[in-house]
Amino acid sequence: MARQVGIVGAGISGLLACKYTLSKGFHPVVFESQSSVGGVWTQTVGTTRLQTPRSNYQFSDFPWPSSVTDDFPNQHDVFDYVKAYAQHFDLLKHIKFNTKVAGIEYEGPPDEEIRSWSLWGGTGEPFGSKGKWKVIVEDLESLSTEIYLVDFVIVCVGRFSGLPNIPEFPPHKGPEAFHGKVIHSMDYAAMDNEKAAEFIKGKRVIVVGFQKSALDIAMECTFANGVENPCTVFYRTAHWNVPDYLPWGIPLGYMYLNRFSELMVHKPGEGLLLGLLATILAPLRWSYSKFVESDIKRKLRLAKHGTVPTHSFLHEISSCLISTVPEKFYDKVEEGRIKLKKAPSFSFCHNGVLVEGETTPVEADVVILATGFKGEKKLGDIFLSQTFQDYMAGSPDAAMPLYRECIQPHIPQLAVIGFSESVSNLYTSEIRCRWLAELLDGTFKLPSIKEMEKDVTKWDEYLKRYSGEYYRRKCIGALHVWYNDQLCKDMGWNPRRKKGFFAELFEPYGPLDYVPSSAAS
Ligand SMILES: Cc1cc2nc3c(=O)[nH]c(=O)nc-3n(C[C@H](O)[C@H](O)[C@H](O)COP(=O)(O)OP(=O)(O)OC[C@H]3O[C@@H](n4cnc5c(N)ncnc54)[C@H](O)[C@@H]3O)c2cc1C
Ligand SMILES: NC(=O)c1ccc[n+]([C@@H]2O[C@H](COP(=O)([O-])OP(=O)(O)OC[C@H]3O[C@@H](n4cnc5c(N)ncnc54)[C@H](OP(=O)(O)O)[C@@H]3O)[C@@H](O)[C@H]2O)c1
Repeated sequence: MARQVGIVGAGISGLLACKYTLSKGFHPVVFESQSSVGGVWTQTVGTTRLQTPRSNYQFSDFPWPSSVTDDFPNQHDVFDYVKAYAQHFDLLKHIKFNTKVAGIEYEGPPDEEIRSWSLWGGTGEPFGSKGKWKVIVEDLESLSTEIYLVDFVIVCVGRFSGLPNIPEFPPHKGPEAFHGKVIHSMDYAAMDNEKAAEFIKGKRVIVVGFQKSALDIAMECTFANGVENPCTVFYRTAHWNVPDYLPWGIPLGYMYLNRFSELMVHKPGEGLLLGLLATILAPLRWSYSKFVESDIKRKLRLAKHGTVPTHSFLHEISSCLISTVPEKFYDKVEEGRIKLKKAPSFSFCHNGVLVEGETTPVEADVVILATGFKGEKKLGDIFLSQTFQDYMAGSPDAAMPLYRECIQPHIPQLAVIGFSESVSNLYTSEIRCRWLAELLDGTFKLPSIKEMEKDVTKWDEYLKRYSGEYYRRKCIGALHVWYNDQLCKDMGWNPRRKKGFFAELFEPYGPLDYVPSSAAS
């Protein structure tokens, strides 16, 4: 009998997981709490566009329709594209909509036995003979609860949705002290465009954060309000947010997304020769960073606005923190419609927000916290067992321990897709799902738990070295070819996908390098 695979979430990752498990003859059932596929693309801030060029954010076997010509399509085009993918591959019939997974529980050997395993699941096999997962789901329409027993679970709950990151404040200094409204960017995104515009119109707005949600919302404030009601952006860290992907006219992909650029960084598991080369090439790596930084500084006039970051561009791209600055954002700053305020720490008072160390608050009517999401907690909370929650969380001073960014070595019959970030999350989720489908199909086996943990530690060292305090984002963006190489080798594919030495070394890698027709080559 075909194995049952339970998939939590029908965003891009869940759809890919569904498609690739189906392709190997498994029976997937996808649980989705919303009424539609698409995850984050079902509800975004009105002006949201793709940040990744469309050519890099596409399914390897399903091109964008010819009607979409923009390099950075708007949210509706992205949403339609994702829906069309689900329809084209007939995935909808496998999805249970309005069905929230309240928790999952492993029904198998006791914790003590699991702790003694040296191989994943005890045998190294993806499907255990002794255990199954119990998936407890709530039907959000009938409010009934159901239990499904499945052989394998793929958790695709997303990193940037559902559970907002709300800063913590001392007693009486949080939102409760403020006379106005405080919402998270997620709530703002949930409003339709008209309601959102109405919400901020004529209001003194403070936006907290300096990444993509914050930039987009601040820009929307300038559409609704004039200089008499400027939007103040409270930022903790200045970032190398980019105006475009063409520093001094050179495509960024040629500088950071090819094999050559990866030779300049120390890689997890590199040998002596590659390590030596990365050391020798360090000055070049530094020059690349300075080259890009000088372009951004010039185009966005960062020195004038006092927003020159103190870290390098390499650090930024290695942390997947490259946000595209909305067009004319800094023009609005110069017009006085957006005010940028450095605020390492702040608290609320009756009439506004007080930056630590200052005595006069910035007065406001509305505060929008564009402070990101608690992806780790959302993922951990899906497990009913504290032991599995602890395995998933790992150690407090290391990033979430996922082998190949998919498998927690101690948690049997389960994989995670879409947690660790890259510069194109669709492309990365797709190759992971193909890798996972091959693993489930028995094409290859995982090494011992010890070996997997060693590998996880090496990646953790890489993350700490290049992403610094952002290591928990688990960004593989600046090393995605090296990462993909490992998945390819596991699956028995040739990792070198380009034609010719120079193309292999200098051409940026993207989803079309891994099209199924050439997959086995
Ligand atoms: C506004 C926005 C724009 C972005 N733009 C880009 C971009 O340009 N380029 C890029 O590479 N990345 C971008 N990202 C990152 C984005 O998260 C990924 O590209 C991708 O869409 C994530 O897909 P996912 O399926 O992993 O997660 P999600 O899209 O978050 O999907 C998770 C799904 O799981 C469901 N779910 C969660 N918990 C449960 C549960 N307990 N039970 C049932 N269902 C559940 C949710 O309802 C959701 O449908 C963007 C993110 C946001 C928020
Ligand atoms: N395609 C698009 O147009 C689009 C639109 C929106 C979002 N996205 C994507 O969605 C993901 C989430 O983006 P996001 O902007 O919502 O979140 P994010 O990238 O996690 O950024 C959170 C921001 O909030 C700040 N912050 C967090 N905690 C804070 C605190 N306690 N006090 C002050 N500031 C705090 C962070 O500052 P520090 O840097 O100092 O930590 C950062 O500037 C990203 O991958 C992003 O690229 C894409």
